[in-house]
Amino acid sequence: MTDTAPRPRRLQGADVGIPPRQLDFRLPDELAPWAYSENATATLFLAMLSAIFPPGEDFFVRSVVAFRDRVTDEELRARVAGFTAQEVIHSREHDRLNAAFRDRGFPVGVPEKAVATALKVLGRTSPRQQLACTALMEHFTAVLAEDILSTDEFQKRVHGDICELWLWHALEELEHKSVTYEVYEVIGTDQKERDRSVPLVLGTVGVAAVFGWAYLLVQQGVWRRPRDLREGWRLMFGPGQFMRRVLARMPVFNHPRFHPDRHDTRALEQRWRETLFGAQGTLTEHLRRPAGKRTV
Ligand SMILES: [Fe+2]
Ligand SMILES: [Fe+2]
Repeated sequence: MTDTAPRPRRLQGADVGIPPRQLDFRLPDELAPWAYSENATATLFLAMLSAIFPPGEDFFVRSVVAFRDRVTDEELRARVAGFTAQEVIHSREHDRLNAAFRDRGFPVGVPEKAVATALKVLGRTSPRQQLACTALMEHFTAVLAEDILSTDEFQKRVHGDICELWLWHALEELEHKSVTYEVYEVIGTDQKERDRSVPLVLGTVGVAAVFGWAYLLVQQGVWRRPRDLREGWRLMFGPGQFMRRVLARMPVFNHPRFHPDRHDTRALEQRWRETLFGAQGTLTEHLRRPAGKRTV
C-alpha cells in the first residue's frame, strides 16, 4: 500500500521571519560624485564596505553551511536557509553597486581582493573557529545595521541613489542576526574560541579593510586633501559618530552571556519592514516577486 498523504511542507526562511527578497535595485547610470555627505574620505569608506561584502558574506555562508547537518531543529534549519538566501542576494546587489562604483572610477576590486585573501587566511583555522569569527562579524553587521536604521543620520548623509540598498540590507541583517550564533550554540560555544576571534578577525579582515580604504584614498588623490580627510575621519570615527558608536558596541560579543537576541530589535525591524515593503513601502515595487508569507 502506498502512502498518498501529502508530505508536510518544509519550513522555509519566509515562514520564520527571514524572507529572501528578490530585489533589483535600479542604480543610476552615474552615481553622485561623493555619496556620503559630499565628502570623499567618508564616501570611499562606504565604497570599501560595499566592496568587502561579497567575499565576506560568501565566507559567512560557507562557515554556517559547514555545520548545517548538525542542526536538527526544523525552525533553525529554516532560519539557516533564510540567512543563506538573504546573504546570497546581498552579495549580488553589492556586486552591482560595486560595478557602479567602478564605473565612477573607484577601484573597489582592490579592497575586495584584499579581504578575499584575508578570508583565505582565516579559512585555515578550524571550521569551529571560522564559525566563531563569523558570529563576531555578524554581530558587527547587526550593530552597523541597527545604527543605520535607528536614526535618520545615515539617510540624511547618504545620497538617495544608493541609500535604499543599504536600508534594505540593514533590515535583513537584523532579521537574521542570531542565526549564526544559534548554529554555533548547536555545536557548543567556547569562550576561548570567541575571544580568539577578535584578534583573528582584526588581524586579517580588519587589516585588509583598512588597507583597502587607504588604497582608495591614495588612488583618488584624497590623501592630498587634509580638510577632506579630517572631515571624513570626523564623520566616521569622531566622538559620537557612526563608526565610533558601532565599534563601542563590539565588546559585548565577548561577554559570557552574549546572545544577539538579548538586545531586542524586533520593533525596529517591524517598523522598517512596513516602511520598505508594506503596502506603501518604498521598495515594494522593486520586489521581483513576493518573498513568501512574511514579506512584511
Ligand atoms: Fe548581508
Ligand atoms: Fe548577515
